Amino acid sequence: MGVSNAMTADFLRSAYGGESQAHMRYLIWGEEAEKNNFPNIGKLFRAIAYAEYVHAQNHFNILKDNLYDTSVVAGAVFGSTNIIDNLQGAINGELHEIKQMYPVYLETAKFQKEKNAEKSFHYALEAEKVHAKLFQDAQNSAKENKDISITSVYVCPVCGFTTLDDNVAQCPICGVKKDNFKKF
Ligand SMILES: [Fe+2]
Ligand SMILES: [Fe+2]
Repeated sequence: MGVSNAMTADFLRSAYGGESQAHMRYLIWGEEAEKNNFPNIGKLFRAIAYAEYVHAQNHFNILKDNLYDTSVVAGAVFGSTNIIDNLQGAINGELHEIKQMYPVYLETAKFQKEKNAEKSFHYALEAEKVHAKLFQDAQNSAKENKDISITSVYVCPVCGFTTLDDNVAQCPICGVKKDNFKKF
């Protein structure tokens, strides 16, 4: 794979950095949620952490043909105070990706005719839209001091699409069959 243009390569590395940190942050916040008697919100955090891993992996794999050292500058939310604030941090991070980061990265990849990067940014952008909604629903519940009532969370291993729907047949973003989804 690889990319020909420096700007798209910069954006891939930054997106990789942002997704990597989101992955870790959601695992930390998920553990906090579980400790504080919100096991289902904890499960949601763990599932979405996996989706961010999928995004990080997709971005990384486009650049994997060369080995080199570099510094990665990426946006991140820091802190862990209480479940409502942590969920607000998650919502803010997702909205930043949906409204600013991925639309700009996606247009750059299109402009530079970087097909692989375009696909990777498109997958992430679409999946983050669902994440923002799921975190918002979780926060609404937490504000009433209630855990979310869910059974399982399913994540597409190709694009990171995330759903609570047991009956989903295939991924609406990339078309992968539900049998391949990771279940939490
Ligand atoms: Fe996300
Ligand atoms: Fe997918």
